[in-house]
Amino acid sequence: MSRIHLLPDALINQIAAGEVVERPASLVKELLENALDAGARAVAVTLEQGGVRRVRVQDDGHGIAREELALAVMRHATSKLSRAEDLERIATMGFRGEALAAIASVCRLTITSRAQGREHAWRFDAVSGELAPAALEAGTVIDCADLYYNTPARRKFLKSESTEYAHCEEALRRVALSRPEVAFALSHNARNVLHLKPGTPEERLSALMGEAFIERSRIVETEAGPARLFGRVIEPRHADQSRPPQYWFVNGRFVRDRMLTQALRQAYADVLHGSRQPAFALFLTIDPALVDVNVHPAKIEVRFRDSQAVFRFVLDAVRRALAPSRAVLESTDIDGEVPPAAASASPPPRQPDLPYHAARGAAGSRTLTHPAASPFVPAGSRLHDAAAEAAYLAFARSALAPMQEANGSSVGERREKEALEIPAPLAADDTLAPPPLGYALAQLHGIYLLAQNAAGLVLVDIHAAHERILYEQLKEAWDRTPSVQRLLVPLVLTVDAREYASWEEHRETLERLGFDLGALGPEQLAVRSAPSLLVQGTLEPLVRALLHELSEMPQSLAAESFRDKILATMACHGAVRAHRPLTIPEMNALLRAMERTERSDQCNHGRPTWVQLSLTELDRLFLRGR
Ligand SMILES: Nc1ncnc2c1ncn2[C@@H]1O[C@H](COP(=O)(O)OP(=O)(O)OP(=O)(O)O)[C@@H](O)[C@H]1O
Ligand SMILES: [Mg+2]
Repeated sequence: MSRIHLLPDALINQIAAGEVVERPASLVKELLENALDAGARAVAVTLEQGGVRRVRVQDDGHGIAREELALAVMRHATSKLSRAEDLERIATMGFRGEALAAIASVCRLTITSRAQGREHAWRFDAVSGELAPAALEAGTVIDCADLYYNTPARRKFLKSESTEYAHCEEALRRVALSRPEVAFALSHNARNVLHLKPGTPEERLSALMGEAFIERSRIVETEAGPARLFGRVIEPRHADQSRPPQYWFVNGRFVRDRMLTQALRQAYADVLHGSRQPAFALFLTIDPALVDVNVHPAKIEVRFRDSQAVFRFVLDAVRRALAPSRAVLESTDIDGEVPPAAASASPPPRQPDLPYHAARGAAGSRTLTHPAASPFVPAGSRLHDAAAEAAYLAFARSALAPMQEANGSSVGERREKEALEIPAPLAADDTLAPPPLGYALAQLHGIYLLAQNAAGLVLVDIHAAHERILYEQLKEAWDRTPSVQRLLVPLVLTVDAREYASWEEHRETLERLGFDLGALGPEQLAVRSAPSLLVQGTLEPLVRALLHELSEMPQSLAAESFRDKILATMACHGAVRAHRPLTIPEMNALLRAMERTERSDQCNHGRPTWVQLSLTELDRLFLRGR
């Protein structure tokens, strides 16, 4: 066995470089970060052969003084950190003093730099150690040639030129997204590929994510204490790319973080079909003392001091951005031409019923403070609008009643139902703004509802819209005690062993959901009460679906996902079926319920529940000029 000995510096550097420099794109990332730390306003990246032959980064930053050039490529040499305390609040992209040393050990590195106020530039060759005067207007040029020329084994791991190039370009995009005020240029094999002018965050997002993304996404902007979240998230209905761009930045640094990914997934959980992925670019800024960036060799991971709090903050902010119903936001534009900003703007934080106010503006608030005007005009608070709720309940019950008669499964309290008369829709009244989704005209093939609003024609998928409303209401009710209704005649179900076992095991959950079930024997269960929202529906298949769902639910499922799944099942079974004729008042009640319900513009699977056909669009169909 050989003796223990200290490794030579060159070898130490090469080993360390293995962590920092994974491929040409790592050079792009490290050099761009150095340029930004040097205060650059414009950066140009030149690549040859996917960056393997050459990566060259030129900036107009403050430069490196002659006497510090050789030091810059030494390990643990940095200008960004001096005391241990600094490590706890890192505000620069670099801090370890590792990158240039690592890079110098795996390629032919030269640095040309002119420090501010100096007469001319100096060129340092890291291979030979030579230092010579050079010509350069300002800033720094770092040139990395022949990556892995001295470690052929590593060279073998490089992929094709086009793949390596793609990684380089992606590295630049990540940096450029978070620094819109800096200009970036990229050329590959002497061809100019990208030129990004300095601009606003929105302009940069548009340049790098595409205009379509801007049009189809919602703004996220929230601040809470030491944290701020800004960016854009795709509207669920447009989440159709198989590998959409997804960017998380923490204090300007692109990161991969499981907690952040999870928060986003959860924010979309209700509105996005399982296999789809959302496109987004989100920028989280947080007091540097509350996040540790020194946890990964490529600085691509971070650790939050209070990751639970960050999770909640992000989840809440993104959910809110996705929540406001487009029904309410878009309908204010009489021509049906929705200004993209209005359609995609998210409400400021912590105002749950803001969509309504935001849409109607100052003029609309007059209507809102008119509580007695009509049950269809939402009063200040959506949640405690008793009249509107009564109208909705009446709708839900009457809409479902024929189903119950058809299968004879349960008899609710008819008298109570009759007492909840649905008020007729308000006649056009100049003093009141018309409701965003307008008034019902007719039902088409038992599936669609047609309504007229200020912009033109509204088409609603009745089942999908009702399912969504029920789902949101059930979720809301979950946090309170659900309103439960006793059945005059209990519904008796003949069950198999598995259903029986599921009932035994999940009695508490069922109770929590508003179901009171008792055993009449080993093969029979009696449903004695059910949630008021669902009581007139097809109770039997609903209870069976619940028993099955509960028995299959993995133990490990998070409480929230569990709740969402169960409630989705309930909503699906509770929602009015297609081909069930509705009266005009019932349809109007549905429209009003949609306006009051967050996220009612898409069903639980992310499909739209309604569409607007503006008069302009209708005119176009008939080649009719206006
Ligand atoms: N483009 C540049 N302009 C001005 N100074 C630079 C530039 N690139 C590097 N430097 C100087 O060289 C030093 C070493 O750079 P290097 O990238 O190795 O370390 P770092 O940025 O301090 O930390 P890290 O290893 O985390 O990147 C920097 O601290 C900085 O002072
Ligand atoms: Mg650096």
